[in-house]
Amino acid sequence: MCGIIGYAGSGGDSDTLEVLLHGLGNLEYRGYDSAGVAVANASLSIEKRGGELSELKDALAGNADGFDGSTGIGHTRWSTHGPPTDANAHPHTNAEESVAIVHNGIIENYLELREELSEAGHTFRSDTDTEVVPHLIERERAGGADRETAFREAIGRLEGSYAIAAVYPDCETVFAARHESPLVLGLGSDGNYLASDVPAFIEFTNRVVYLDDGEFAALSPESVTVSDGSGAPIKKSVETIAWDPEDAGKSGYDHYMRKEIAEQPRAIRDCLRGRIEELGGTVTLPELEGLETPSSVQFVACGTSYHAGLYGERLLQRRGIPTQTFIASEYDAARLPVDESTLVVGVTQSGETADTMAALRSANRAGATTLALTNVVESSAARECDHVLYIRSGPEISVAATKSFASQQVSLSLLATALVDSASSAAFPPREYLRELRRLPDHIQSVLDDSRADAVAEEFLDADAYFFIGRGYNAPVALEGALKLKEITYKHAEGFPAGELKHGPLALVTESTPVFALVSSREQAGATIGNIKEVQARDAPVVAVTDDPESVANHTDYVLEIPETHPAVMPIVANVQLQLVAYWLANALDRPIDKPRNLAKSVTVQ
Ligand code: G6P
Repeated sequence: MCGIIGYAGSGGDSDTLEVLLHGLGNLEYRGYDSAGVAVANASLSIEKRGGELSELKDALAGNADGFDGSTGIGHTRWSTHGPPTDANAHPHTNAEESVAIVHNGIIENYLELREELSEAGHTFRSDTDTEVVPHLIERERAGGADRETAFREAIGRLEGSYAIAAVYPDCETVFAARHESPLVLGLGSDGNYLASDVPAFIEFTNRVVYLDDGEFAALSPESVTVSDGSGAPIKKSVETIAWDPEDAGKSGYDHYMRKEIAEQPRAIRDCLRGRIEELGGTVTLPELEGLETPSSVQFVACGTSYHAGLYGERLLQRRGIPTQTFIASEYDAARLPVDESTLVVGVTQSGETADTMAALRSANRAGATTLALTNVVESSAARECDHVLYIRSGPEISVAATKSFASQQVSLSLLATALVDSASSAAFPPREYLRELRRLPDHIQSVLDDSRADAVAEEFLDADAYFFIGRGYNAPVALEGALKLKEITYKHAEGFPAGELKHGPLALVTESTPVFALVSSREQAGATIGNIKEVQARDAPVVAVTDDPESVANHTDYVLEIPETHPAVMPIVANVQLQLVAYWLANALDRPIDKPRNLAKSVTVQ
């Protein structure tokens, strides 16, 4: 996700531009596809570039005149609204360049604000949601507001999530605000800093102040003040932090995978943001405007994304839409019943997987309507398809997919609700279902806080193999649990729809093959417990992942409990327990968790 740096220098040894570029370098781990800086002098000097930070540095190496002011802001952008072009890169300004802005987050009401400002004569130069902010500030300034008030008033108009910093010409102060996006201030001897994360300025100071939601900050070279929305000062405590620069990108976790597992509540909130209206029981996906309810749906995907497709298949089938999921490398639209009323959905985190791309091209050739469900703006899949739905997971660095799988499942839940009018559906009463989606981040957080997966993993370090079973919505997560475990532990693991166990795999079940069973209190619990008894009779240890520990108490050796929720939402929560089991097992076995042997994050060969 985007990274922000700001600096109000006191004219000491630190060169503003160097501080900004250095900070952006330290924020690269967050993932980005463009970068830019603005330095305030009598006017604003701005340089921004799509692509790597090196491209921005090259551009500045040729021409850094005007960048010698003491105050500035910088940004690494991870595209959400519009492709990673120079024009869409931050900082953004109004036409006269009387203010420059950097932003991390999503402004939900930007279309409404953009329309309002356009009608008042403002013209826009980018596709971003952010660009409304400098125009709002310009309007406040034209009405006579001072710089700080104009900033505060403009922020007051925003809905959504943001960490925002602004600089003005002829002004040594950086103004900032936060709501649901991180922002931390650094108090230094050569001036004061702000950033999305501490590594951006840790070489300069380790004295920090964390901003909370709804707070504003003003950083001058000599002082830092924090206030609330009305301008009333807030007294903040200053923390001194111990920091190992090695850990910078991992926010203190030992591995990116562990960090990304922990980021799932935030990723899901971002995915849902502005898309559900719980009271009315509706889902709004403006990016899918013009997409009709299809006569049938085909999912094409690989690896973890294939499991997300299987989950989406169940969501759509139960809403009455004939749906099939294909491993992308096995898909050939020419041999299938496909026409323009068929929706072919490419589920692909990276948007670049060669097998999925080939499947989508074949669907397009056959005249299907195509949709990319992806994490990466302007990726090949996004460009190939008629429609795109972004899963908004944020960059995923660990090869083993975790948070992107959760965001895919949530996006598919939204897609299914938006495609089929389920107002009268007994299986998906819209209000209850959307309420459970909204509560999902909290449910996952409680699993993250209380999970005993580490202790369970410790019990089974020497197992011969690991089996995973589940029914209905939980069957795809049984497959995913096994895939995750084999990817990062190098141990044999297999997942099955629970009923299938007795048709072959049961021959492998022994006292050395733990079986992980997903048991939902509201979805075929009796049948799954029957399968558990079958493996117990063969002396296999059983670990139940369930929302109803009592019903399985007599049949299992261990329980990994999860909160009760809608049966279609349960697998998203249950999967977190399985991610943690795989992680802790791999950790105990000392595997290179983030980069398992022979595997790649983005597989661009067929
Ligand atoms: C690779 C990765 C998997 C991923 C799969 C599909 O095999 O190692 O983690 O699930 O590709 O990737 P995609 O980007 O298309 O979702």
